[in-house]
Amino acid sequence: MPAHVVVGTQWGDEAKAKVVDFLAESADAVVRFNGGANAGHTVAVDNDKFIFHLVPSGILRARTKCIIASGVAIELKQLCDEIDELITRKIVVGQNLLISENAHVVMPYHKALDAARNKLSSGTGTTARGIGPVYADKHAYMGIRVNDLFDKKRLLEKLRVSLKEKNVVFERIYDIPPFDPEQIAAELQPYAEKVKPFVANTSLYINRLLDDGKTVLFEGAQGTMLDIDHGTYPFVTSSHPISGGVCVGAGIGPQRLGRIIGVVKAYITRVGNGPMPTELKNATGEHIRAKGGEYGATTGRARRCGWFDCLVVKHAKRINGLTEIAITKLDVLDEIETIRICEGYLYRGQRLTEFPEQSDILNECEPIYAEFPGWQTDTTEVASFSDLPDKAKRYVSRLMEAVGCPASLVGVGPNRSQTLLAQ
Ligand code: IMP
Repeated sequence: MPAHVVVGTQWGDEAKAKVVDFLAESADAVVRFNGGANAGHTVAVDNDKFIFHLVPSGILRARTKCIIASGVAIELKQLCDEIDELITRKIVVGQNLLISENAHVVMPYHKALDAARNKLSSGTGTTARGIGPVYADKHAYMGIRVNDLFDKKRLLEKLRVSLKEKNVVFERIYDIPPFDPEQIAAELQPYAEKVKPFVANTSLYINRLLDDGKTVLFEGAQGTMLDIDHGTYPFVTSSHPISGGVCVGAGIGPQRLGRIIGVVKAYITRVGNGPMPTELKNATGEHIRAKGGEYGATTGRARRCGWFDCLVVKHAKRINGLTEIAITKLDVLDEIETIRICEGYLYRGQRLTEFPEQSDILNECEPIYAEFPGWQTDTTEVASFSDLPDKAKRYVSRLMEAVGCPASLVGVGPNRSQTLLAQ
């Protein structure tokens, strides 16, 4: 089946872009279906590093079409900056990028509201890219879609409706001066002109590709634990970063889906607030952070690091219907003497083996660990899976067993070449 999905199984930042870039070599198209510029996808090619927030990571492959589908929240300036940078770095963008006419656009007032809410309460600790407010407007029927940008009268009308209520909130609650619809429309104009040639009915386009037997890869942003319904609510994002989100966010039927690849980091990280039972607030956590470069690609925030949590990934397997996993960043554990894996939680004297969805329960959970001897060998130069140290292979086998599906790829470094085929 030619529609394959790549999703994060943890709290995002699983190095999905590297997996997408690797698989994109044999794909005809790569589609982003959720989230917005809250995501930061890093791909290393030889000595070059690319960070994408909106453009699908597949853009680095010259024969791959890249599609930003309707489920994505688009920050226009960010998108235009990424397009400009790609062109400067001689990457083919022209005929390779398509943007959904139905995608919602992040407005300056969405970002202002997001930042103001972060300041008022410790809350979720968002990336302040306006993601919560733009999806809230979408569901309250007052969003602005890409297609609205090209009809000035309609755009102004919609901005006025949206701002009527928000300007009162800005002035009375947040002490922020009101936004002017005319000024916003004028500021958006040059960006709208720039993206216009890429705008299309992307659901139609994707379905036609699939009808023609082409291979389409769907690239999830964030991770399952940040899903608005199936994550650690309210410490989540506002979209569906799960395989089910593909159908809604890209406009395809579920029978199209074939491989569903869950990206699993060999340990776990989280940015922002919310429970994380296996968090390491010690020297090992700091070692993982430094070695893994665990700092947010969008905000630069230090990521919280911890041991691999089987309950989290088992939950992700069930929610996404994973057919396989891709393990990333195994090399980050190379120097650790004893590695731990969380196999259950202790909650009020009771052993839990399934992930509890309520954040207040999770807050009280103590991890129950199994210990593994570390391989204490550099794996970054290993050229094939069979050449990995036995102890590393045993760790990989344990992860597969815990999740209940096979691993197809194992990453041992940021570069394309540091990707091992596990079978
Ligand atoms: P928002 O998506 O900016 O509203 O943030 C909501 C929560 O999701 C916060 O905890 C963020 O740190 C987290 N988050 C959003 N995008 C990402 C991502 O790409 N990686 C990891 N965490 C993310």
